[in-house]
Amino acid sequence: MSPHSQYDSIGAAYDAVKELPAARYGEIPAVRALLGDLTGQKVLDLGCGTGHYARLCRDHGARHIDGVDNSTTMITEARRREQPSQPSGPSQASPAPITYHVHDAAELPHLGTYDVVLAVYLFNYAPDRATLEAMLTSIRANCRPGTRLVALLTDPSSPLSRPGLRHYGIEFDITSDADPDADPDADSDDAQDSTATTEIVFTAHCDPPVSFRLHAPHPHLIDECLRTAGFSEIEWGRCPVSPQGRDLFGDAYWAEYQHSPPWITVTALAGV
Ligand SMILES: C[S@@+](CC[C@H](N)C(=O)[O-])C[C@H]1O[C@@H](n2cnc3c(N)ncnc32)[C@H](O)[C@@H]1O
Repeated sequence: MSPHSQYDSIGAAYDAVKELPAARYGEIPAVRALLGDLTGQKVLDLGCGTGHYARLCRDHGARHIDGVDNSTTMITEARRREQPSQPSGPSQASPAPITYHVHDAAELPHLGTYDVVLAVYLFNYAPDRATLEAMLTSIRANCRPGTRLVALLTDPSSPLSRPGLRHYGIEFDITSDADPDADPDADSDDAQDSTATTEIVFTAHCDPPVSFRLHAPHPHLIDECLRTAGFSEIEWGRCPVSPQGRDLFGDAYWAEYQHSPPWITVTALAGV
């Protein structure tokens, strides 16, 4: 039995967040581009929520997809969408079934050996180094040499609390900032931990609004934990607006977002 997750009281309401322009034309195309060609690939989607990206992977050719989340409510909703009677279920064109599991990503069993592991916002639920290390060790145990990790998370170095983001229906309320005086290059684990994460309450002004707490671990910490867990070829990226979003809304609409997109991506390869 998984402990109560804040997402147990969000469930299907979360999907409205994916409809906001910043998600549709910023976040989602960035992840899609990083996933590349998934034809015939076996994918593990961690922190899968209601299955948005698991289904996207199916639609782009993945042959086998497992989705994992620690919220039973999110997984119940994801499984409902998987029913053959649902338009979001498997189809003749995209037949791969998606299997959903309730697990904490920091304590994964061996589910299989994957070509791609996807973690969209998962690292935002690592409040400290120990949790991040546990997640990455669990992930590595489900990889083969060469497995690609594709992750996206809130960027702690973006000015997240700027009012201009309300323009896109999103709001980040910083509830506990990382220690600005600590030296991120310091050697001691304590110093690293004190600079590790920023605590945030995120609100999407959908109808009804959706609000949840998250952490924004700093890239230097993620980088270190990735290397410790056996990942290399680590590449960081931004989430600029897609050409389609720019055509639809115009550059003036996107100026505030483009100035500093609130999300960053990281990719890495599992080593031998
Ligand atoms: C912001 S939602 C993102 C869902 C999905 N990746 C997406 O982009 O649509 C974060 C998800 O991570 C899940 N989550 C948080 N901590 C987790 C953990 N330790 N293990 C597994 N899932 C977790 C939450 O339950 C929630 O469904």
